[in-house]
Amino acid sequence: MRFTLNDHVRSVREPPIGEVRGWAATRPPEAPELIDLCQAVPDYSPPEELLAYLQQVVRDPLTCRYTPDEGLPEVREAVCARYRRRYRARVDGDHICLTVGASQAFWLSMLVLCHAGDEVILQAPCYFDHPMALGALGVRAVYAPFTEKEQGVPNPAVIERLITPRTRAIVLVTPSNPTGVAIPHGRLSELYFLAQRHRIALVLDETYGDFVEGMPHDLFTLADWHRTLVQVQSFGKTYALTGYRAGLLAAAPEFIRQALKIQDTMAVCQPRITQQALKYGLEHLDAWVEENRLKMSLRNSLFAAEFVKPGNRFRLVAGGGFFAWVKHPFSGRSSRQAAQRLVQEAGIMTLPGEAFGPGLEEYLRLALGNIRESAIAEVVRRFRNVS
Ligand SMILES: Cc1ncc(COP(=O)(O)O)c(C=O)c1O
Repeated sequence: MRFTLNDHVRSVREPPIGEVRGWAATRPPEAPELIDLCQAVPDYSPPEELLAYLQQVVRDPLTCRYTPDEGLPEVREAVCARYRRRYRARVDGDHICLTVGASQAFWLSMLVLCHAGDEVILQAPCYFDHPMALGALGVRAVYAPFTEKEQGVPNPAVIERLITPRTRAIVLVTPSNPTGVAIPHGRLSELYFLAQRHRIALVLDETYGDFVEGMPHDLFTLADWHRTLVQVQSFGKTYALTGYRAGLLAAAPEFIRQALKIQDTMAVCQPRITQQALKYGLEHLDAWVEENRLKMSLRNSLFAAEFVKPGNRFRLVAGGGFFAWVKHPFSGRSSRQAAQRLVQEAGIMTLPGEAFGPGLEEYLRLALGNIRESAIAEVVRRFRNVS
């Protein structure tokens, strides 16, 4: 190329899932069938009634058109109604911008909050796309270290010590990707008030929030939640619609007004078909969502029960919902080497811990979205048999 590329972007590491798939592609043809514990996607389809509804709306020429940048008012109202049911939220349409997945909502939040050179605090292990996005923006990711004792639940005292005059936000994911552990309500409130005291944002990514039993937290019940809280939300896993790219940003009306300047130049709007799917889901599928929460919770418990039986040199450190976070037995080897060995020896794709932040070379993330209950025994047998 005869031009220079942005150094911030060049310094960002490659997305880890592609790397693991690359290792899998080099396996010999006679190797055992691959088991994919790599990407966190539900293995079930959206319900038939949603697919039938979408078949109808796709024929409507209006479905081909743009919507307002923030999304259709009736869809944002359906979001608010569900947030009132699920979070007892004090929320209305002005607090909501529909986005192209949680991924775009995260970008909007960081662009509104940060200048290049600013700092954002992440709890390790963190969702790998977050430091990648920050790196591309020239924003410094500052990590709160992982401890097995706390299972990656952020400790307010530790986080507070990381705050500097350059800090713009604390970014947390609950339940966590990669550990699956949800931050307890009380801990989240402490972190919220910590952010408020320091006049920085608490950015909460709740992509897996619908896989938590009951009310995920009570921050939305506070009258002035939007003075401190910025929520990044995805409905991809909720309705098994990851390809529709259904997400949203919930924040103060002024924050949304600034975000819409970026939204207009970046995506214009969430696709209309996605908005229609989302509205249908929000209005009709609460029971279906709960059924799938129970299914994932059962799958996780069955997996954990099998995994911790004697004879497995991999150790379960934390887990919940879509994920298990395990320690590999190959001392002195990086998690990348461990994950590569699992692909080659056992035909199992996992993600190396080091993709989720510094100091995590001993760990692997297993995503359970792809394995049926009937496959659990075989998966664990393969872990056991690794030499
Ligand atoms: C924590 C977290 N945030 C955001 C995303 C991206 O969500 P979306 O597909 O809605 O962009 C994911 C996807 O796996 C995730 O795990």
